[in-house]
Formats: sequence, C-alpha cells, structure tokens
Amino acid sequence: MSIQDFFKLLRARWMIVCAATVVAVLGAVVLSLMTTPLYQASTRLFVSTTSGSSLSDIYQGNRLSQERVVSYAQLLTGVTLAQRTIDKLGLDMDASELQENISASAKPETVLIDVSVLDKSPVRARDIANTLSDEFVAMVRELETPESGAAPDARVVVEQRASLPDKPVVPRIKRNLAVGLALGIVAGVGLAVLRDLLDNTVKSRETLEDITGVGLVGSIPMDKDRRKQPAIAFEGDNSAIAEAFRKLRTNLQFLAVDNPPRVIVVTSSMPHEGKSTTAINIALALAESERSVLLIDGDMRRPTLAKYMDLVGTVGFSTVLSGAASVEDSLQKTRFPGLTVLTSGAIPPNPSELLGSQSARKLLTELRSKFDYVVIDSTPLLAVTDAAILAAAADGVLIMARFGQAKRDQLAHAVGNLESVGAPLLGAVFTMMPVRGRSSYSYSYTYYGTDAAQASGRHGGAQSSELSRTSEKADAEAGADGAMDATPPKRRQ
Ligand SMILES: Nc1ncnc2c1ncn2[C@@H]1O[C@H](COP(=O)(O)OP(=O)(O)OP(=O)(O)O)[C@@H](O)[C@H]1O
Ligand SMILES: [Mg+2]
Repeated sequence: MSIQDFFKLLRARWMIVCAATVVAVLGAVVLSLMTTPLYQASTRLFVSTTSGSSLSDIYQGNRLSQERVVSYAQLLTGVTLAQRTIDKLGLDMDASELQENISASAKPETVLIDVSVLDKSPVRARDIANTLSDEFVAMVRELETPESGAAPDARVVVEQRASLPDKPVVPRIKRNLAVGLALGIVAGVGLAVLRDLLDNTVKSRETLEDITGVGLVGSIPMDKDRRKQPAIAFEGDNSAIAEAFRKLRTNLQFLAVDNPPRVIVVTSSMPHEGKSTTAINIALALAESERSVLLIDGDMRRPTLAKYMDLVGTVGFSTVLSGAASVEDSLQKTRFPGLTVLTSGAIPPNPSELLGSQSARKLLTELRSKFDYVVIDSTPLLAVTDAAILAAAADGVLIMARFGQAKRDQLAHAVGNLESVGAPLLGAVFTMMPVRGRSSYSYSYTYYGTDAAQASGRHGGAQSSELSRTSEKADAEAGADGAMDATPPKRRQ
C-alpha cells in the first residue's frame, strides 16, 4: 500500500478513526473520573556520619553517608517503620497497605533521601510523611548507637518537613487524555486498515478489470432520481449520469470495431446491482444517437422493465416464445424516439428452458435484423442460469458491478459462468458509484477515453491510439459521442 493509498483509505474510513478516538478519549475521561484522588506529601532527610577533623576523615565520613542512604531508603519503605508509624498515628490500616504508598529515593552522590507518601486525605498524607520521617530518625539512632552506649555512628535529620498538599497527584487528567487520544488514533487507524484488508468488495478499476479480464467501459454514478424514474430523458440532459451513459455508449462503439456487438446482454453477479436501470439507459443513450434500439426484458423471474418504463407487462418475450402472441403485437413503442421495448411477458414456469430454446435463438436473430441494437436486461448470474443462456446467444455481455457491494469472489464466479458457456464478455461497468468526494475511493469517471482505449485493447487490439485520442477529444468537446456519432447510420425503423 502506497502512502497515497493509505491517505485515501483514511479519507474513506475517517468515521472509524474518529469513532475510535472519541471512544478512547471518553474512556480516559471516565477512567479519570472513576479514579480516587490521591494526595502526595513529601519530606527530605539528611544523613550524616560522625567523622574526624582531618580532610581524609571528612571524606571518609561523607562516603559512608552516601553508602548509608541506599540502605536507609530500603528501611524507609520497610514493614518495621510502617508499623511504627501506624502505631504512632493510630491508623486503621495494616503495614503492607501503608508500605505500598511510601516511596523513598536516595539521590545519587548526595546524602539526601526524598520520602513521599500517597493518601486519599491530604492531611493524613502530610501527617504520615512527617511521623514516618520522625520515626525513622529515632530508628536510625537506635540502630547506629553502639552497644557501648557511645555516640551513634550516623544520624538522620529531617531537613524538610511535609506541607499540606493542595491538589491531588492522581488522576493525572492531562496525561490520561493524551494517552487516550494517542491510543484512539492508533486503534482507529489500525481498525480502518483491518477493515480495508477484510473488505472483499470491488472498489477499483484495476480490481474490476483483473477479475473480469475485460476493460472498464463505464462508471455510472449514484443518482437518487433514478429510484423514482429509472429512465433518463436524454434530450437536453447534461447531468453527470446522462454524461456517464453517453460515455458508456461511446466506449461500446469502440469495442470490436470489425464486428460490432449489436445484441448485448446486461447482467451482474448478484441481484440489485443496477442491471435493469443501466440496461434502460444504455438503450436510451444508443437511441439518442439516432440508432433504432430494442430493449428486451430477459428477466422472466422478476421482470421490472414494464414497471420501470410504464408499459404493459402481460405480453412480451415469454408470450412470443410460447407462440401466444406475435412479435409485432408484442413490441411496444415508447415515448422515447428510437426505443422499442419487448417486456418479459407473463412469468413462465420454465424460464431457462424457454430462453435456451431454438425459438429464442430464432427470435433474437429476427430482432437483430430489425434493429441496430438489441439490449437485453437479464437475471443475476449467480442466482440462475438464465443470463448465461441468453449471453451465449448474444454478441456480447456487459457485466455490472455495484461499486463497493459486488464481492470479488462472486464476480469471479459469475465471470466463470459466462466463460463456461463461451459467452463473449465485452466490458465491465461500475454502477451506483458514490459521487466524487463522498468516498475517497470514488473512481474518477472522467477518463473514459482511456477506459475505452484500454477496453478495446483487451479485445483484440484492433483499435489504434488514434481512436483513443479521438475518444478523449470527443469526450472533451461534445459530451463523449461527437467523434463516433458524427455520421450515424439511418435508423432502421
Ligand atoms: N445509478 C443509480 N443511482 C441510484 N439508484 C440506482 C441506480 N441504478 C439503480 N438504482 C436503484 O437500485 C435498485 C436496483 O436497481 P435495478 O432494479 O436496476 O437492479 P437490478 O440489478 O436489475 O436488480 P434485479 O437483480 O432485482 O433485477 C433500484 O431501486 C434502482 O432504482
Ligand atoms: Mg433487474
């Protein structure tokens, strides 16, 4: 993962990072509030040893004091002194409890010992620190006095007595918040990376092309209006989605120029990836460029075209195949110039059988001769075999992958299904792409010229770089179809 990928990932998953940071900081706040405040009182002890008056005696004495402070620091945190302090102050605790709250540190190369006592009460902390120090002074006197009763070898003086602490040392709110913030950011970034690693959905052109083995020929943006009205009225519409379909149309025209595909099946690996909506608008985009287009609802299980286009659904593909109606009677003109629709017809009990029949092949051949393009909406490849059966009889297949939803393994499986029936895959289309800015992964759908060149390159390389340049120029100048649509053939109808 490059640095750029990493930042893209963070931009896409900033919510996880923010949520983890907020949770960790809140955790630090709660922890701080729940921690019992502790006050610290400190004293400083001075250690001296009896020494002669000569310079070397003074030096020796000083050395002895420095060596003693280390042992004294141990004694200060020992059980005997703790017990003596408890007895003196009449405290309600045992020696080990008090020991835990006492710390003593001997400063290196000095004869000073710093003693600190922690307690819930500031007054008690001060009293314990002072009493402990006084008791230690007495204890050292006892320990250092020779049996002969001569003057003690060393003595300790309380150089600095404890004062009343004004604020608690625990909890350390600022430190806790800083640690919470740092941990939150690290955990958030970690979670974001983990989520990304576990994300099995297709979100980049490279992945889509790798899996499908064909080029990306279109990226259809998410457009809420399509939920209410799936068909785009292309005339005078320069919206992002209309432009995306125009570019897809241009790219389609670049594919296999020697033998242009005219019967095209639109499918996907899973349901609800936008097949029907995309099929309608591919057909409309082709019709806009003065072609006669027939849109067939090849989904005989959950047909939607009649509903999406406000047409009669009872007579259609299945009724023609069963012989119950003639083709002429079943084709429905739409309000869009150049677009005719053959709806799915009554739902048959045996769609796969019907679609795989000789009559179906014959019908498609007949319709192919009547229209410039036949676009067939179909079922998801992994749900039923219908789409693969239709695909085998078509000139080519466009496979839809819903951005961020289509799973890599499922898409690969679907492509395998097409390959197993020998269906020619023309290209892949990203559907319902988040609009730019919403997702950092949002794939720029402004580079269709390049897409077309790549896509066509994968299909035999018949296209020259001239074509891709033309495409880019056309896209830039005339909404993507100027170059290819400059001299459209006459509509057949
Ligand atoms: N570009 C788009 N922007 C916003 N919504 C879309 C877009 N394309 C499709 N949709 C919505 O997604 C849903 C599924 O779309 P559609 O019916 O076209 O998918 P499908 O693949 O044909 O589904 P099925 O597998 O059930 O046939 C519908 O609610 C549709 O309005
Ligand atoms: Mg559908």
